[in-house]
Amino acid sequence: MRLDAEYARELDRRDPLAHFRNEFVVDDPDLIYLDGNSLGRLPKRTQARMRDVVDNEWGKRLIRGWGEGWFDAPQRLGAKIAQLIGAQPDEVIVTDSTSVNFFKLVMAAFGARANRHSIVTDDMNFPSDLYLLQGAIRLAGHEYHLHIVHSEDEISTPNEALEVAVNTDTALLTLTHTAFKSGYIYDMASVTEIAHRAGALMLWDLSHSAGAVPVSLNECNVDLAVGCTYKYLNGGPGAPAYLYISRDLQEQLLSPIWGWFAQKGQFDMKPDYEPAPGLQRFLAGTPNMLSLAAVEPGVDLLLEAGIERLRAKSIAQTEYLIALWEAQLKPLGVALNSPIDARVRGSHISLGHPEGLRIDRALIEEMNVIPDFRYPDNIRLGIAPIYTSFTEIHEAVKRIRQVIEERLYEKHAMERPEVT
Ligand SMILES: Cc1ncc(COP(=O)(O)O)c(C=O)c1O
Repeated sequence: MRLDAEYARELDRRDPLAHFRNEFVVDDPDLIYLDGNSLGRLPKRTQARMRDVVDNEWGKRLIRGWGEGWFDAPQRLGAKIAQLIGAQPDEVIVTDSTSVNFFKLVMAAFGARANRHSIVTDDMNFPSDLYLLQGAIRLAGHEYHLHIVHSEDEISTPNEALEVAVNTDTALLTLTHTAFKSGYIYDMASVTEIAHRAGALMLWDLSHSAGAVPVSLNECNVDLAVGCTYKYLNGGPGAPAYLYISRDLQEQLLSPIWGWFAQKGQFDMKPDYEPAPGLQRFLAGTPNMLSLAAVEPGVDLLLEAGIERLRAKSIAQTEYLIALWEAQLKPLGVALNSPIDARVRGSHISLGHPEGLRIDRALIEEMNVIPDFRYPDNIRLGIAPIYTSFTEIHEAVKRIRQVIEERLYEKHAMERPEVT
């Protein structure tokens, strides 16, 4: 592969999705934004949508807004996200945060598999999910044992290791589909099958997949899933998350939070709780309308771009980044902490270096490059194929090389900032 800057520009000229970048606010053209996994860029359409929802819907329509599109926004948006993750329109709803939705589904799964005692996950899972499992187990009176499968290489967990851990005592197997650190993608169909063979439910966290990696929840017979909307879906800081429950399970499961938005005949205002039909029972209280409104334009953009085309570009870009790493960063002691095989690699690349934290700080403070940092030594480069260019990737590697070669990181503090 050619590694000169002109080739990067040529790849951008040939990119059928290149024009989508113009749909996003790019305030500083020199800033290389490779965060992507914690907060996507702001779509220009969202700016217009927010003005409309504040000035007209809230400002002029006031309470009438609830009857003019707000009340069913969780379902309407869920139906759109369903198209990105291979689900039916009535199987996805947008509400609360990923953490809260995860908790609701874990508690619901406990209820549906009451006579089992084991929960299985792995140590590549996102910490919030691990904490929530521990909290749910405590609430359930410690009737469950949490089995955390260890990843030997910290990049992947083979199916065989999961298979050993899952048995007929397992109530739930839960994993993050694209691992937050390494970017490894589990084989959704065969892992879900491991859970089902043992009679357990399967819960996937799609936060690092949806919008960048094709997901086929129905085809893979998935029971439960959650995911966030502020990464590849570009829904904005703290944007509400979504949850999925397969149709056949919806009437069997109960949310642990019995709010009035989860009540059958909500406005009858009856004193006794009766679960609403379908996914509505997994709502709790009044939806955060302003944040919900901000989610829709980003999802529309992804649907327009098409998930298969986004995946093709993401693979081309991570391959390109790995080729640059191999030629220019590996000789400087930078490790590749992501899978080399594109088929099992999501849309971010983790690079390891003992000085990862200080390199990260130098990139942000001196080089106008924004990566993520993930403890202990991971520089995580997120590629959002809807707006990241090949030229940016080329330039980012050049700047990382400069920080290491000229030891620019040495003047930066060793302490971790509050937020990384
Ligand atoms: C895989 C995964 N799960 C869960 C979360 C937590 O999401 P939230 O803060 O919306 O609850 C994150 C946050 O980055 C995540 O990456």
